Amino acid sequence: MSDSSPLKVAVTGAAGQIGYSLLFRLASGALGDRPIELRLLEIEPALKALEGVVMELDDCAFPTLAGVEIGHEADKIFDGVNLALLVGARPRTKGMERGDLLEANGAIFTAQGKALNSVAADDVRIGVTGNPANTNALIAMTNAPDIPKERFSALTRLDHNRAISQLAAKTGASVTDIKKMTIWGNHSATQYPDLFHAEVNGKNAAETVNDQDWLENDFIPTVAKRGAAIIEARGSSSAASAASATIDAARDWLHGSAADDWVSMAVVSDGSYGVPEGLIYSFPVITKNGDWEIVQGLEIDDFSRSRMEATANELIEERDAVKELGLI
Ligand code: NAD
Ligand code: LMR
Repeated sequence: MSDSSPLKVAVTGAAGQIGYSLLFRLASGALGDRPIELRLLEIEPALKALEGVVMELDDCAFPTLAGVEIGHEADKIFDGVNLALLVGARPRTKGMERGDLLEANGAIFTAQGKALNSVAADDVRIGVTGNPANTNALIAMTNAPDIPKERFSALTRLDHNRAISQLAAKTGASVTDIKKMTIWGNHSATQYPDLFHAEVNGKNAAETVNDQDWLENDFIPTVAKRGAAIIEARGSSSAASAASATIDAARDWLHGSAADDWVSMAVVSDGSYGVPEGLIYSFPVITKNGDWEIVQGLEIDDFSRSRMEATANELIEERDAVKELGLI
């Protein structure tokens, strides 16, 4: 496919909160100058609202928007897509644990994995934002045996961005001064945002901060529980920031991460850092030409190791739960 042909991008849950922010940024060129064709999947009752969103997309007259198709049948909407952003899922509401979402969302991601397997383009990349994102990605991946496993990823870029922002505030640095942030593990409260390999203006972040109490009792819980704090404050889950992170992740995946930096992506584990093979676990990765590679050789101390294992254990429990439900 030549680069002037439109990039076909599927977005599921397109009539939802995240969709309302995501679609306009995709359509206005956030992934580059290449024209984009949007394929929007929703459940039938939400199609009318989605028609309204499409009217608004039309009214923006975006030069990069080559077309929009909407529907409720995954086999039609995913036909020939190069990028699928799986956002549609039931969001966590006040007082609800992420584990409660496994069953509710499992069925969605089995069906969508199967549909992608049959009709997506050969070069498809699939990013899962809908929660529980890591395990939803595992379900979709397992149900799409003909798509290489490396083409699936779950979103931890929002956590990565949150961690950068917290560190910038603590050190007085600007966000662009911060490099090599890592989120390890699950997009959940067990995630481990790692300052021991991050840098502020080229210097080790943990040494720069030099405040283990802040690192342990402020930074890590603030980042890990930020989603819940936003739900508590807004009454609904993060939307614009989640859309922004979904774009950051897709852009870097397709076009590559910066030469002096890496990004966090939840991808299938190859056993690196002792993470059980096959789990969808967030690692530091370098992206290039549409592929990712886990950053190797980082030294892991006992503090980091125990947190990396705790979040892996949660993912193992989630995997076992969906296995029990027959979803993988
Ligand atoms: P929302 O409820 O506003 O929108 C979800 C949309 O998905 C709804 O319009 C719904 O009709 C649709 N949907 C449900 N089942 C579907 C299906 N089978 N096919 C297609 N569409 C379907 O929710 P939101 O605020 O946009 O959040 C979407 C998801 O993203 C939630 O799971 C939320 O928890 C998650 N999220 C993830 C992150 C992250 O960093 N990974 C951050 C924020 C939110
Ligand atoms: C977030 O991180 O904002 C979302 O995943 C919301 C949640 O359910 O924690």
